[in-house]
Amino acid sequence: MKRRVAILISGRGSNMAALIRAAAAADFPAEIALVISNRADADGLKKAGASGIATAMIESKPFSNDRPAFEAVLQSVLDQHRIDLVCLAGFMRLFTADFVQRWYGRMLNIHPSLLPAFPGLEPQAQALRAGVKISGATVHFVIPETDAGPILMQGAVAVLDDDTPEALAARILEIEHRIYPAALRLVAGGQIRFEAGICKTSGEATPAVLISPAVS
Ligand code: GRF
Repeated sequence: MKRRVAILISGRGSNMAALIRAAAAADFPAEIALVISNRADADGLKKAGASGIATAMIESKPFSNDRPAFEAVLQSVLDQHRIDLVCLAGFMRLFTADFVQRWYGRMLNIHPSLLPAFPGLEPQAQALRAGVKISGATVHFVIPETDAGPILMQGAVAVLDDDTPEALAARILEIEHRIYPAALRLVAGGQIRFEAGICKTSGEATPAVLISPAVS
């Protein structure tokens, strides 16, 4: 039986679209059963609707700082749709430790840096300021600490001398669209095991992807 996945978004939804595309394959072990946005103006909502995926909008603004109340509504929608796994894809709202605990091992996030480097906001600009020569993206299980948690998969790209945050973000985004579906496939297919809190894969999966402009 395919695992039922909800994708949570706040904006553009390009990772969401990549997950929807991948999950359309007959052999993909998960189906995208629901897309939830916490913002009515999220472009991704329209894209999801156009793909025939069920959507829900739970506006977070009226809840202000009452995170438990927002999460109670969110949980009831997830329950209604019998969701097994949650993928955060540009979801710009923090959760309480209780909610995260409830979904531990079943909630994934993608972040555009090679974690644990550059968590938080504007990771691409952080990478440029640090002068790193390689950056990338990370898919990880969600824990209460932001942009941390057991790492499922990473993809790396070269940082170029004349990169701007936007140019680097675009290069990283390409690899995000490859590793998020691949990581979800591993989790939904039961190919992840933990050893001392570290994710290991079984089968032939390689949890690292490298794309890089040719360097001579
Ligand atoms: C991505 O860079 C993702 O890694 C980060 O937020 C961005 C969302 O982009 N968490 P999109 O909405 O998936 O296009």
